[in-house]
Amino acid sequence: MPTSFGYARVDEGRKQALVDEVFHKVAERYDLMNDLMSGGLHRVWKDAMVSYLAPPRAMGSGWRLLDVAGGTGDIATRVVRRSNEMARAVVCDINESMLNVGRDRAEKAGLGDVITFTQGNAEDLPFPDRSFDAYTIAFGIRNVPDIPKALREARRVLKRGGRFLCLEFSEVDVPVLDKLYDTFSFQAIPVVGKWVTGDGDPYQYLVESIRRFPNQERFADMIREAGFERVTYRNYSGGIAALHSGWKL
Ligand SMILES: C[S@@+](CC[C@H](N)C(=O)[O-])C[C@H]1O[C@@H](n2cnc3c(N)ncnc32)[C@H](O)[C@@H]1O
Repeated sequence: MPTSFGYARVDEGRKQALVDEVFHKVAERYDLMNDLMSGGLHRVWKDAMVSYLAPPRAMGSGWRLLDVAGGTGDIATRVVRRSNEMARAVVCDINESMLNVGRDRAEKAGLGDVITFTQGNAEDLPFPDRSFDAYTIAFGIRNVPDIPKALREARRVLKRGGRFLCLEFSEVDVPVLDKLYDTFSFQAIPVVGKWVTGDGDPYQYLVESIRRFPNQERFADMIREAGFERVTYRNYSGGIAALHSGWKL
């Protein structure tokens, strides 16, 4: 099946290989680039996501998070800390280089016992049915070749009453900001990417893939089509990012 890799049309299998190449290249500098490209805003959006999730802080709750496309563990770390280290988190990512950076970070932060790292594909998760209380995916779903399949997998691994949250770049709906954002994205991001990582191509892909991703309403429909209920979304920074929420009821 043809799918998009940025603005290019490629086969689904080829897209995953190209995406993997992008994240192997940037893994070591990924966290620094996130700060540079978003002016630190990604931290604010991620904190807001974790507040909305509100993981329980009760002793012995046994509450488990699955953070898919979790890369270097940003979301899992925040969730575990917010729960006073009561929650347990599994970071699942297809890319070993990103997972290695995440594993090191978790160890250094003293969270090696509460966050585990597993290599796996969002389209075919290596976990049994109904095994998690919450599923998060931040800036990850856009990279997955078959998004409807990944959404069905998200629902499969959640327990009844489980929460799905997806943070993703989205459609800017504020006049003037949309033009400024376009200029910044296409002119500055690939240049800064090249300067920091030595290669601008991964960042050209990043910008193009954001533009190709379905807008807020369309993506909410896709989440409903996967069987989630009470689907809502909220915009951050005028829609530069959006947080979608759904429940497995
Ligand atoms: C932009 S990073 C996001 C990392 C992290 N969630 C964050 O917010 O900082 C995207 C991640 O998606 C992962 N990814 C891409 N395709 C995937 C797939 N099919 N299954 C699981 N992870 C995937 C990449 O390896 C990469 O680590």
